[in-house]
Amino acid sequence: FNVYQTMPNPDPNRLPVVYEEWEEMAREVLEDGPYYYVAGGAGGEDTMKANLKAFSRWKIVPRMLRDVEERDISVELFGRTYQSPLMLAPIGVQSIIHPDGEIASARACAEMNVPYITSSASTKPMEKIAEEMGDAPRWFQLYWNRDPEVTKSFLQRAEASGYSAIVATLDTPMMAWRENDLKNVYLPFLVGEGVGNYLTDPAFCAKLDKSPHEDPTSAIMHWTQTFGNPTLTWKDIAFLKENTSLPILLKGILHPEDAKLAVEHGVDGIIVSNHGGRQVDGAIGALDALPLICDEVKNEIPVLMDSGIRRGSDIVKALALGAKAVLIGRPCMYGLAVAGERGVREVLQNLTADMDLTMALAGERSIQDLKRSILIEKD
Ligand code: FNR
Repeated sequence: FNVYQTMPNPDPNRLPVVYEEWEEMAREVLEDGPYYYVAGGAGGEDTMKANLKAFSRWKIVPRMLRDVEERDISVELFGRTYQSPLMLAPIGVQSIIHPDGEIASARACAEMNVPYITSSASTKPMEKIAEEMGDAPRWFQLYWNRDPEVTKSFLQRAEASGYSAIVATLDTPMMAWRENDLKNVYLPFLVGEGVGNYLTDPAFCAKLDKSPHEDPTSAIMHWTQTFGNPTLTWKDIAFLKENTSLPILLKGILHPEDAKLAVEHGVDGIIVSNHGGRQVDGAIGALDALPLICDEVKNEIPVLMDSGIRRGSDIVKALALGAKAVLIGRPCMYGLAVAGERGVREVLQNLTADMDLTMALAGERSIQDLKRSILIEKD
């Protein structure tokens, strides 16, 4: 990444570099409803703030004279080598952000060889996204449906269309108290955005009186009643394991005791996340939860993290605190809003370059070498 060597001939159509500028531009192009749906969080947004504060509290203590000319930013997960520790966080309803929605994001990821995580709540069916991606790496995020047949069908469809891991999101058995969306009377799902993956599902459609084509409103209402399942307990993990041979990661883990239970129940990975502060307002910042969870898991299974990553130094800190990889959420969605596929690609490129430079300047040559010892916690 020789970013500065390209500077003498800047692209006249260049896009922002600064995260805050992407967000400002996204604010200009999006209506209130979609903008606040993406940018807003639960309640008074205390957890959203806690996510950012946690990153600024940890400080990097750089080391000198360590030959950082050659660097390795690749990571290995579940027997596959990935080019960098970045992934795109599962984000539903991307059609409210840009008309090309998930297709644009998935293409940008495929081009960058960054794994794309397709959300259950994608506007487009998971097979269509897979087709766009060719052989590029992709995982599937499961919203565990109340109807076990739908959950089973989603798992089968993901395997059949070349997804290589399942991310089961546990923190959203129901939508949280989101004040902006209530104020704006805006929930994308109620107008049919984000249910595309369900409306093509044979198990989902089998439970409808009429086809979604004939009666879209009833199909959407059926979706609202079944998309999440608050009755689940740890015993139900066995159901997932029985119904897929893919590695299973649990997303939304914040308590070390839950991390311990995840290991005991034989899952393959954990994603420490508070859903970007969109579910439990007042919850612990995700980066604050990360070291506690890594201490509990002791490298038995990989721990990934998201919620609050905005710059390369954030990625370095998360990796130093024990994350094997990180998921990028809102920054890519602002890129999508501003410039579609190109916007997502540029955000990913910038974050990767920023991470690589920060790692080198901190005196580290590889992701594997990033340890907690390069950080101190300072208020
Ligand atoms: C999300 N997130 C999310 N997570 C998930 O498992 N399934 C989903 O469908 C969605 N949808 C979704 C929509 C929007 C608009 C946002 C902003 C987020 C959560 C996402 O995967 C991730 O955890 C957060 O985005 C991380 O927080 P930051 O870094 O984006 O603030």
